[in-house]
Amino acid sequence: QLSNDELKIKINELKEKLDVTVVAHFYQRDEVFEMADITGDSLELAMRTQADDAEFVLFCGVGFMGQSVKVLSPEKRVVMPKIACCAMARMIDSLYFDDSVKYLNDNGISNENILPITYINSNADVKAKVGEMGGMVCTSSNAKKIITKALEEGKKILFVPDRCLGQNIANQMGLKSMVIGQEGNPMECDILCYDGFCSVHQLFTVDDIEFYRNKFPGILIATHPECDPAICDASDFVGSTSQLIKYIQEQPEDQKIAVGTEFNMVNRLRPKNTYVLSSTKPECPTMNETTLEDLYVTLKAIDDGEPINEIEVDKQTQKWAKIALERMLAL
Ligand code: 13P
Ligand code: SF4
Repeated sequence: QLSNDELKIKINELKEKLDVTVVAHFYQRDEVFEMADITGDSLELAMRTQADDAEFVLFCGVGFMGQSVKVLSPEKRVVMPKIACCAMARMIDSLYFDDSVKYLNDNGISNENILPITYINSNADVKAKVGEMGGMVCTSSNAKKIITKALEEGKKILFVPDRCLGQNIANQMGLKSMVIGQEGNPMECDILCYDGFCSVHQLFTVDDIEFYRNKFPGILIATHPECDPAICDASDFVGSTSQLIKYIQEQPEDQKIAVGTEFNMVNRLRPKNTYVLSSTKPECPTMNETTLEDLYVTLKAIDDGEPINEIEVDKQTQKWAKIALERMLAL
């Protein structure tokens, strides 16, 4: 069993030797995150990795992230130390997507009047379905921009899979939304949200916000748009992981801030008077699956000429998923 320090030395040696770029999302464990050449929120990771020219991309994150790199750049060899599927992405597949379209059809909305948008936290088959129907992908940092653009077409938006992101954007823009299958008349809504969610971001409660506001008057509350609309409405700032970091860094040194997003990222910001907006530890189990040892083993496999955990996407899915991703990048 090698210590973390020994693993870091070996990882750095292999990184020097191999034509590989190590990419990590902010929610990765600190020791894994430190090893990355590229870090960022989902949108930044997709764009920066696409622009990178190494033969291998070693992606430390969750499955849909590595898959998006492969979809955008099929010529790259994408490997992941752990192919762990984001719990939210697992809530929808192409069949559930078809069911959602059928629900809208049954409620008098024909396919010509539906513009589907999928949050990037979805698998390639769902992105492909969305691409085939003329829709596109969005991330937490550009959802408002993408929805604004989509509404210009005068259609109803089918938003999958995150009901919270869909409803939060609708609230921000003064639009009417509902969750498919729940109370409401689809014909009267602008955004119809699939009933998916992130279990990690559901941990934050209005009571947590009240607790911090009472304990530290003047504290700021900053949250991710995967939180429930009641949480985002009661926040001072709502943004993607990168946007949250920027907002926190812009505050004066003594400004207290309680942050509602994954633990590893908030903990890394701790010296800046930052608190975790929860009485429980909001850890993403799938993001935390990747260990330093996994990273080393994956690099070693490339060095041995037998890469492991390589991401593959079939041609037809790749074609349409790429179209959906590129429509977003073009905006
Ligand atoms: P960001 O796009 O903000 O990095 O979010 C990704 C994610 O999975 C949040 O739970
Ligand atoms: Fe998925 Fe939630 Fe983890 Fe983000 S925090 S990767 S949405 S399960």
